[in-house]
Amino acid sequence: MWSPDLYARALDFAAHAHGAQRVPGTGLPYTVHLAKVAAEALRACVEDPSRDANLCLACALLHDTLEDTATPYERLVEEFGDAVARGVRALTKNSALPKHERMTDCLARLALEAPEVRMVKLADRITNLEPPPPAWSSSKRAAYRDEAREIARALHGLSAHLDARIAARIEAYGAHVDAGA
Ligand code: NI
Repeated sequence: MWSPDLYARALDFAAHAHGAQRVPGTGLPYTVHLAKVAAEALRACVEDPSRDANLCLACALLHDTLEDTATPYERLVEEFGDAVARGVRALTKNSALPKHERMTDCLARLALEAPEVRMVKLADRITNLEPPPPAWSSSKRAAYRDEAREIARALHGLSAHLDARIAARIEAYGAHVDAGA
């Protein structure tokens, strides 16, 4: 069973690391995004008790600490152990690559990781398939949906619950693609 103490410790750590960052387009603290991703991931672990829910929730709450903050990898190892630090690193896009190669690279690296880590990638995209910023063009929205389909395909079969969630979100996102300028 998952630990509320670990949840609180990872959320505190992430809140300090992300500082004043906001969820793009909403003005909300970045931790709101992290808590939503953790909720998606935890629900999937409740549906399948064979999953390590603590690994899943820690990776969910910390998934952007290496990508978007100055947190060193070693700090994650110290605070949360090797498995969590390794998972967060796998969920981090390689900024040295050209932008259009980053997702494919990330999915290829994730294929080598524990299912709980890969489930966080699905939970993250499910969360991010909220209504897009009004300024996004129709083609940008369509590209975002296509990328979501690529993620859903690459990570299919880890969790029937997450597979259904992302399929429904992709379907619903279609209305925003059609509504884009
Ligand atoms: Ni995210």
